[in-house]
Formats: sequence, C-alpha cells, structure tokens
Amino acid sequence: MKPVKIIQLNTVDSTNNYLKELAKNGACENTVVIAQSQTAGKGTKNRSFVSEKGGVYLSVLLRPDTMGFDGTLITSMTAVAVSDAIDQISGKKTQIKWVNDIYLEGKKVCGILCESVLSPDGKMPFVIVGIGVNLFKPQQDFPPEIKDIATYVFEQENTKIKEDFITILLSKFYEYFEEINNKTFLSKYREKNLVLGREISVIKGEKIYPAKALEIDDNCRLLVEFPDKTQKFLSSGEVKVKL
Ligand code: BTN
Repeated sequence: MKPVKIIQLNTVDSTNNYLKELAKNGACENTVVIAQSQTAGKGTKNRSFVSEKGGVYLSVLLRPDTMGFDGTLITSMTAVAVSDAIDQISGKKTQIKWVNDIYLEGKKVCGILCESVLSPDGKMPFVIVGIGVNLFKPQQDFPPEIKDIATYVFEQENTKIKEDFITILLSKFYEYFEEINNKTFLSKYREKNLVLGREISVIKGEKIYPAKALEIDDNCRLLVEFPDKTQKFLSSGEVKVKL
C-alpha cells in the first residue's frame, strides 16, 4: 500500500470539509482523514449523510496534476474498492448501484462523495474522495427517514474489525488507484452492478423517466433505453431501481 498520512479524529463536521481545508493549505496527496462521527456529514445532491458513531467516515486527498490520473473514473473505482473491502471483512456480497452507492441485501450500506476543486485557470488541483460506511449498527438505530433503505454490515461494534476494515479498504483503494488508467476495476464494476438488465427510473431534476439499464461502457457511463427505444449514455445523475 502507498504510504499515507492518516489523521484520526473523534468527531468533525465533515471529513471532506476538514480535508479540503488541509488541501488548500498544501497538505500532501494521500493524506487521509478518518472520524468516528460527523456532525454535518455531506451526501450527494446537497443532502446530509447520517454519521453516527459506528460508521467509518473517511476522506482521501488526491492531486490529479501530480499523480496523473483520469479523475472521471475515481468514484466508480472507489465503489469497487469499498465493495471488495466490505465483502472481504464480512464474507457477505455487496453490490454497486450505479454510479457509486454500495448495497447490501437490498439496502444502502455506503455512500461516496467525491469533490473536486477547480482553480481559476481551470486546473483541478485536488480531489477529495469521501467514503461513509455503516460498518456497525448505530446505537440509536437509523433515523425514521432512512430506516427502511439503510443497513449496516455488523450488529456489534468491534474495534479490531474496524481497524482491519480500514486497512483493507485503503489497500484495495490504492491497489485499484495505481492501475486506474488501465481500468483494472472495470470488470468488477460491471459484475457487481445491480442495475444492469433492470427497469430503472432516471431522475432529471423534478422529472422521472422510466428506462432499461443496458450496459456500462469503458468510461463507466450507463447506457439506458427509453420506452420509445431511444438510447442514451448517462455519465452522472441519479437512477432508481426497485429492489
Ligand atoms: C451519499 O451517499 O450521498 C454520499 C455520502 C458520502 C458520505 C461521506 S462520509 C465521509 C465524507 N465526509 C462527508 O461529509 N461526506 C463523505
């Protein structure tokens, strides 16, 4: 595994925010921030991410300029690394809901939020990869609004399992990251995907369009077909699937 500088925090507003500040002040690539809980965990689409004790909340700093990688593949690659790590530590079988949500037995167990920062000259000085895994059952259980759609990996909190999980996760992350331009993660990304071949809903703003998920191309875009037989590649956005 790459040498990483790990900063462990008890609690923080958001590991992504914390690391973003460090990055602006020159923190080196591969700095990792891990927190036991977050008071303002951020999700995609400006949503919040429930971040009680019992989860793993972690952010990694990457610098595309010096590291030379294709930033568009980072979220998909990270999804495979996290999914592999959960499978290895638990013996269970997770799946990936395009683009990068990890599901276990039909419920979401991990979310990933990558934030890239652009400088005024259009360059991307850094990317923060934020990963939130519900590793253990939260002490107060999940709040009612996500109780039916969220799950956890283990019932009982266990420090050794948590440490081992973080080690496995970071080593998988860097194993795939070193090969990101060769896309070694891609076959697993397709294999583990739970939308392929299924009827889905494509969400665009306020509108919802029914479609069928056909394939994932080499750039991790999702090819969908609408009822009128027109096809479209989606490169980001939200899709829903009935599980
Ligand atoms: C999502 O599913 O909407 C994405 C959730 C991403 C949550 C992680 S937890 C660590 C990092 N810090 C944050 O504030 N968010 C990400």
